[in-house]
Amino acid sequence: MAKTPQNLQATIMILFITFITTFLHEANSQQFSQAISKDKLGLTKMTETLTHLHFYFHDITGGTNPTAAVVSQSPLKATSKTNFGSVSMMDDPLTEGPDLNSKLVGKMQGIYGSSSLDEISYLMVLNILFVDEKYNGSTIGILGRNPPLHTVREMPIVGGSGVFRFARGYAEARPHSYVVKDGIAIAVVEYNVYILHYN
Ligand SMILES: *[C@@H]1O[C@H](CO)[C@@H](O)[C@H](O)[C@H]1NC(C)=O
Repeated sequence: MAKTPQNLQATIMILFITFITTFLHEANSQQFSQAISKDKLGLTKMTETLTHLHFYFHDITGGTNPTAAVVSQSPLKATSKTNFGSVSMMDDPLTEGPDLNSKLVGKMQGIYGSSSLDEISYLMVLNILFVDEKYNGSTIGILGRNPPLHTVREMPIVGGSGVFRFARGYAEARPHSYVVKDGIAIAVVEYNVYILHYN
């Protein structure tokens, strides 16, 4: 049966209302959560890579240019054998070789606090900011336990940014040297970091 002009008009009106309603709904919907394809972030075109980074950390205290500072002391300072509760902030240079003047590859920036009553051990909450080559501007986050008197300390990598998006892995720290001269103490620690990430 052929449509009368009135029927056609009504159909167009219904289509128009449907379109407008759908459009307004889409425009107003604020979708909080959604499963998306890994393609959307280009992840299927990338491979998960294991990267090994090796560098030296320099913690400088005392003198006129320290790289770490105590920001809070604990009320337990007088009685605690571990200075339990004291908190420090650091921005420590990371270099390619054990010499502080070798190439700068990054900075270790964050908080460490004495978190063990029985042995000296720190809660480490920090970012490594890389400044070299393809890693420049990328970061990894570390959240771990660091007992500095142990020969090897292992701390988890909990994530990353830039080339280290979706990172996971671990960092191994080994003491390299500790030198005190003219009231300036420099502790050098060797790091081996293993990171699974996409590239
Ligand atoms: C790293 O990036 C910063 C800022 O984007 C830039 O100023 C600096 O020259 C870069 N360093 C290297 C070694 O490419």
